[in-house]
Amino acid sequence: MWYRLFINLTPFIPLSLKGEGEETLERGEAPLLPTLPLPLAREGGQGDRLLNDLKQRLSIKESLKGRRRSLITKYQNMCYNGLMIRKCLPDDIDRVYFIINEAAKAYEGAIPDDCYHQPYMPIDELEREMKRMTFFGWEAKDGELVGVIGFEPIKDVTLIRHAYVLPQWQKQGIGSKLLNHLKGLVTTSRLLVGTWADTGWAIDFYKRRGFNLLPDKDELLKTYWDIPQRQIETSVVLGMKVGR
Ligand SMILES: CC(C)(COP(=O)(O)OP(=O)(O)OC[C@H]1O[C@@H](n2cnc3c(N)ncnc32)[C@H](O)[C@@H]1OP(=O)(O)O)[C@@H](O)C(=O)NCCC(=O)NCCS
Repeated sequence: MWYRLFINLTPFIPLSLKGEGEETLERGEAPLLPTLPLPLAREGGQGDRLLNDLKQRLSIKESLKGRRRSLITKYQNMCYNGLMIRKCLPDDIDRVYFIINEAAKAYEGAIPDDCYHQPYMPIDELEREMKRMTFFGWEAKDGELVGVIGFEPIKDVTLIRHAYVLPQWQKQGIGSKLLNHLKGLVTTSRLLVGTWADTGWAIDFYKRRGFNLLPDKDELLKTYWDIPQRQIETSVVLGMKVGR
């Protein structure tokens, strides 16, 4: 483990002296990951593969510009066999818009007609949502985001918002891994998610991952969400205790 830690951090030591790299981070070019490959390295012996894969995927020159502190605090990325979860940045908005609106086509004919429209989430609404909460995305091997999930701590709970995976990437475990990633970040005692009452697949998805339908959903939707009355009537809330 310490051997791997040494390998992972070594390239960044001289760079912290240079103090460059903010622009690299802001552009969303993920640096070599300093710590998170370690559990994988322990569990699956895949650390070397991960590092090699990252080196190929990223420009080493660019990744070496970042400051170590920034790398650690700004990029809490997680790697899964060369694919990764990363924070979405403002520049990702077009891709996030595409993912949400493509995946939301599943709602057509399922949720009430007066609640469905395309684009399901207009760009100005998405812009507001991206300012308001943190989105995490799943990046495929070619570096394209293919799934997203929003994370919004509010008052005494944390909300999961806008979980969408592109249709051709569904049923491959991406939604589950994004959800698990959020579970690991929660600092409140409850994690809540709201979804349309008619989306049985989404309700089942959450139920199978430890969530329960909550009876006081109207009250919860009014307290923690900012959505129209019609959406309150046609939605459910699922929750789970996270024991913090
Ligand atoms: C809900 C949603 C985000 C789930 O994303 P996903 O990436 O398909 O989720 P997963 O692949 O982790 O899990 C989906 C199912 O595929 C199964 N699955 C996972 N990996 C699989 C694999 N390699 N092969 C086959 N099935 C697999 C899972 O077991 C799961 O089934 P289960 O719920 O019966 O256990 C996605 O379906 C979606 O975007 N739907 C449309 C929008 C929506 O409803 N969003 C929810 C709003 S709150």
